[in-house]
Amino acid sequence: MYSRIAGTGRYLPEKVLTNFDLEKMVETNDQWIRDRTGIERRHIAADDETTCDLCEHASRKAMEAASVTPDDIDMIIVGTTTPDQIFPNVACLLQERLGNRGVPAIGLEAACSGFIYGMSVADKFIRTGAAKRVLVVGAETLSRFVDWTDRSTCVLFGDGAGAVVLEASDEAGIVSTHIHADGGYKDLLYFPSGVSKGFNDLKSGKDFVQMKGNEVFRVAITTLGRIARETLESNGMTTDDIDWLIPHQANLRIIEATAKKLKMPMERVILTVQDHGNTSAASVPMALDVAIRDGRVKRGQTLLLEAFGGGFTWGSALIRY
Ligand code: ACO
Repeated sequence: MYSRIAGTGRYLPEKVLTNFDLEKMVETNDQWIRDRTGIERRHIAADDETTCDLCEHASRKAMEAASVTPDDIDMIIVGTTTPDQIFPNVACLLQERLGNRGVPAIGLEAACSGFIYGMSVADKFIRTGAAKRVLVVGAETLSRFVDWTDRSTCVLFGDGAGAVVLEASDEAGIVSTHIHADGGYKDLLYFPSGVSKGFNDLKSGKDFVQMKGNEVFRVAITTLGRIARETLESNGMTTDDIDWLIPHQANLRIIEATAKKLKMPMERVILTVQDHGNTSAASVPMALDVAIRDGRVKRGQTLLLEAFGGGFTWGSALIRY
């Protein structure tokens, strides 16, 4: 038994923040942001819009594309670092919205790799026969924990959600998934406080995302190249066998450097970073949905999805769509 993608969906909040808008907020400029990151604009959730709201919109679109209803879904996994509340997890909140009460609802926190981790978990449940149809969502409202006076981070991030319905199939589908982590890098990209550490700073809104950008950049390039090679080699494939590379959309230069290492022409790389910014766990499923809906990704093609994020966590999924 394998799992296959039955449908995808995405949702981006209405409000768009351009580089020119940011020029009015911090000492930066459109040229610098585009040259260093490739980002031109990003979407920002409204004050009353939560991660679960974004998940619900994206999930309903994915279910519509898969021609299923919530009653057909027997497991929900949501990858996010920006949950509505500490508990219940966003997957539980989403399940209540969708109305399929009783099915397992897993909140998964693996920063930008949250969606790939979620795909890997869902694939395992489907392959063992423990689930038939799993809704996997990556969603973030990162704008909430960005310091809007810090030009080195506030230009990078955006909000959004992407969702996939995975279902049991006699043929792959998901050929393989590969997930890794190295907590030794915990101090390069992190949010300083939580419940059992720095709770008062969290409550008073004093903490923001912290990043050693140069070092993250360097490790990301090496690691993404390595995970792509691991995925191809373990399946006896080469870059020529891949129709589309769908990478985490953090920074155009990271994507270009990874593609170069793989000898993958940029014409076969899906890019949304210019329009979405870095949306963490939402970036890969949104890029996948964009490319399916605009007709570039077609049934029968082979896709390599990959992500890298805080932890560090990283992972990939090789998919025959
Ligand atoms: N506008 C203008 N100037 C800026 C800005 C800005 N928004 N931000 C920083 N600068 C300045 C710096 O102050 C510095 O000035 P100085 O030379 O006078 O000191 C100069 O630009 C260069 O700064 P660097 O930090 O060295 O710039 P760099 O080329 O490394 O680019 C960036 C910074 C874009 C953050 C890059 O390091 C990067 O992309 N890193 C990876 C970050 C990333 O992708 N993180 C997410 C991956 S994992 C995940 O998705 C969670």
